[in-house]
Amino acid sequence: MNVLVIGNGGREHAVIAALKKSPKVDKIYAMKGNAGIAELAELVNVDYCDVKAVGDWVDAKGDIDFTVVTPDDPLALGLVDELQSRGHRAFGPNKNAAIIEASKAFSKELMKKYNIPTAKYETFSDYESAKMYVETCDIPVVLKADGLALGKGVLICMTREEALDGLKEMMLDQKFGSAGNKVVVEEFLVGPEVSALAFTDGKTIKPMITSCDHKRAKDNDEGLNTGGMGTFSPAPFYGEKTEKEVIEKIMLPTIAAMNAEGRTFKGVLYFGLMKTKDGMKVIEYNARFGDPETQVILPMLKTDLMDIFEAIVDGRLDEVNIEWEDGACVCLVLASGGYPEKYEKGKEITFGDLDKDVTVYHAGTAIKDGKVVTSGGRVLGVVAKGADIEQARQKVYANAEKIHFDGMYYRKDIGIKYRDIAKE
Ligand code: AMP
Ligand code: GLY
Repeated sequence: MNVLVIGNGGREHAVIAALKKSPKVDKIYAMKGNAGIAELAELVNVDYCDVKAVGDWVDAKGDIDFTVVTPDDPLALGLVDELQSRGHRAFGPNKNAAIIEASKAFSKELMKKYNIPTAKYETFSDYESAKMYVETCDIPVVLKADGLALGKGVLICMTREEALDGLKEMMLDQKFGSAGNKVVVEEFLVGPEVSALAFTDGKTIKPMITSCDHKRAKDNDEGLNTGGMGTFSPAPFYGEKTEKEVIEKIMLPTIAAMNAEGRTFKGVLYFGLMKTKDGMKVIEYNARFGDPETQVILPMLKTDLMDIFEAIVDGRLDEVNIEWEDGACVCLVLASGGYPEKYEKGKEITFGDLDKDVTVYHAGTAIKDGKVVTSGGRVLGVVAKGADIEQARQKVYANAEKIHFDGMYYRKDIGIKYRDIAKE
């Protein structure tokens, strides 16, 4: 089969590396890809948010058997619908299901209507009403821009002043663009966080191994929110008991809720969860693989990923037995100085002599004059497996030191958090 993968991050590099192992896959095309992906796939320079242009390219190419759509924007814009309407096979939720990520107001309403545990909230489209509410609500409080904002449209406000300023920035100053026209004001929850991703064809749901992200730019979870600075898998506090609770109270009810709403979800559903004193609660849904979660999940997958994708598209996921390796995996993101704010691009990257069992997934990289250079905020993900998280963590850091580009920075504490929490 010839497969087209949409996207250009570390997540797509990990997806492509997994697909490359499938005996079913002949050639992979990546739209638009990056310098690392170029070693595994042929790059296609089409704007994947222009769904019609992607459809035209696939039609004209004529020999693409399957397309995998992983980034949030093209899913929300209906790329899967566009390809299917032209008779092509495509993996990922349809537009009417991708809304579970694309609109926080939608997902909060869904959870309220179907009794799925989440933080209490109010939604506002009008600044004055929101302001009145925030003047008296419990503090800390969380403000969320309704639309997609590259994972940055969330403000955790520890004081009322911060909350009032944040509200003004979102709703009046449009800091997150039109995503902030509607704002969800949410109860602040406390507890360890876990990314629980699952494959689903809308009938069957099969959880993947869990992972934990590090969203803040600096050590000890300080600094601004980013797309994710590192991950480890599995979450030590998420054992069989918690998994059972999540499947019964969150995963199955969500699939059923989406079906009941006429929005059957097929693809990867990402449950961002918090383990609170009142049980597991949903912080967010994503309609896709996480980045950098995928970089620690897929290296542990023993089953052929192409088989899973095809089974989901064909609605026969119940027939596939999905197996995972034992042990742990850690991913450390190497970022451009300044990220998630302003940063420079075009810095040459040198890799040094890396251990054979370490993988580097490329995110913001490009090739310029025959050299690999930086082209984004999150540049590389250094990934290693180990018998446990500590072993994988040490391997990752020992190898990250060998990589260099001007301005490179990374968190020093990936894989440390939650290690004092009771294992389950
Ligand atoms: P989100 O983009 O919704 O995942 O939010 C980004 C981060 O903000 C999450 O990973 C949490 O760490 C934090 N967060 C979001 N909602 C809440 C909440 N209700 N209570 C506490 N922290 C939250
Ligand atoms: N790592 C968080 C996300 O992919 O949304």
